[in-house]
Amino acid sequence: MTVFGFVFRQSLPPASGRRGALARLWRPLALMLVLFGALHVAGTTPRAEAADGSRLPCDRYALPTNSVAATPCVAAHSTVRALFAAYNGPLYQVKRASDGKTQDIGLLAKGGYANAAAQDSFCANTPCTITLLYDQTAKHNDLIITPKVSGNANGGAADNGAPAEALPVTAGGHQAYGISFSGKMGYHSPVGQVDVATGSQPEGMYMVTSGTHTNDQCCFDYGNGEKTIKDDGDAQMDAVFFGNRCEISPCTGSGPWVRADLENGLFASTDGGETNYSGNTQPYVTVLLKNNGTTVFTLKSGNAQSAGLVQQFSGSLPTHTNNGTQFNYDPMKKQGGIVLGTGGDDSDGSIGSFFEGVMTQGYPADGADDDVQANIVSVGYGAPTGSVGSLSPGSEISLQTSAPNSMTYLLAAPAGSPTTVATVTSPTPAATWIVRRGLANNNCLSFEAKSYPGAFLRHKSAVLYADPDDGQVLTTQDETFCPAGGLSGQSGTTSFQVTTPNYTNRYIGQYGGKGVTEAASGDQPQDNQASFKSDVSWVVTKPLVP
Ligand code: AHR
Repeated sequence: MTVFGFVFRQSLPPASGRRGALARLWRPLALMLVLFGALHVAGTTPRAEAADGSRLPCDRYALPTNSVAATPCVAAHSTVRALFAAYNGPLYQVKRASDGKTQDIGLLAKGGYANAAAQDSFCANTPCTITLLYDQTAKHNDLIITPKVSGNANGGAADNGAPAEALPVTAGGHQAYGISFSGKMGYHSPVGQVDVATGSQPEGMYMVTSGTHTNDQCCFDYGNGEKTIKDDGDAQMDAVFFGNRCEISPCTGSGPWVRADLENGLFASTDGGETNYSGNTQPYVTVLLKNNGTTVFTLKSGNAQSAGLVQQFSGSLPTHTNNGTQFNYDPMKKQGGIVLGTGGDDSDGSIGSFFEGVMTQGYPADGADDDVQANIVSVGYGAPTGSVGSLSPGSEISLQTSAPNSMTYLLAAPAGSPTTVATVTSPTPAATWIVRRGLANNNCLSFEAKSYPGAFLRHKSAVLYADPDDGQVLTTQDETFCPAGGLSGQSGTTSFQVTTPNYTNRYIGQYGGKGVTEAASGDQPQDNQASFKSDVSWVVTKPLVP
């Protein structure tokens, strides 16, 4: 007979001799299996095994650890992989601009990795946006693009969804996509979330993010936020934050750091600041917060590619006066909403990367955290397979003008400044661009400025800039260029054609020491030049790094 997936033999071996000894062992084992099935009926989550025999993060949190009760997931979100071995549903939904249709992106196999090829094909030749993140628990705590809420910190506007193609990643040997947040992007759970901690109930959460794509704006958060999407006062939220924002001094170095966003404060400790943690700058980072709601909160972080978690702080919730500020965080007054990519009041200036995250019911045991981190490391998060100096997504390159012996490279200037083509005599990091699949057309390319994570090469009024992507269709089109053989005909050169409708006669060029778009004939000073074809022909090189 089969009970809850376990196969039981109808008759047990006779209880004599060697086989009898086996039977004596088998009978209690069978009894345990029956009890295990019964526990399942009673609501205790059974150990579930992935196809490769490993337990995934939510399977691990669902098990008691060293006599600490299980802390099952009440929310589990990822665009990269299943977080339960038994999960076989959709991970996220994308919407394409060409016809407004949506499609769910699921898994290659139960308990496995995202079917990124389905996204590539559905989003071919058009901008695609991530519109929904499915919760993999049975609670259906899905995340939607944060809606308009009058009176929030965002001026009452809705957020934008993140572009679906912006963050290729390798996980488990598969190509998938993380979520790349620029400003004005964020996700939230609709009201009515199920079983996420409220009031002073205990909970834990982690996210896998990146230490190379952060800023000091408020607030790259994942976790418990206000259902109202407004700042309702101290202790109304409990989310893990990662970024360079030092809200309560002191902070060590410039980060990015893990912090507890408890509302109206990003806390590194009971007093708020810290003096001994310089942050995590690795490309893939696990950050973790757990908060028992009445006495203790704990922060951990670690390299998601190779190491264990380091406890950055564990101690009392803030409930005292510090430098004239009264902290009111004990007990917590969690609202039980879920926020991703913004502050609790929808402050949406932050940038960041999100690959996976879960929230638990209860305060997880340290052993469970370690077990989860071991599973994250086993995934082998890594850059996409593009080799350095090539136009494969993920590759890091510099773009050199094609004039013989030229030392002229396309340089990224800070957001808002014209991107300049400078003659450089010594290598500089600002000349490095990360090749991305085209944000508006996945057969073409976008270029993220390595020195300004989240900023993409774009044209505006025929000048080039490195501007944060805001998820708008026009912005993503301005940030997308189609490569083809250099118009000069010189071997080894490439030209990059603008994809924004009505401007496709223009190419990435350089004129008067500035990065521009240039046309064979047009109304800009750089147009109609005899040098047009060579101005728009580039050599793709390895990064010009020091
Ligand atoms: O606590 C830091 C931030 O302060 C919160 O995320 C936001 O709601 C408020 O502006």
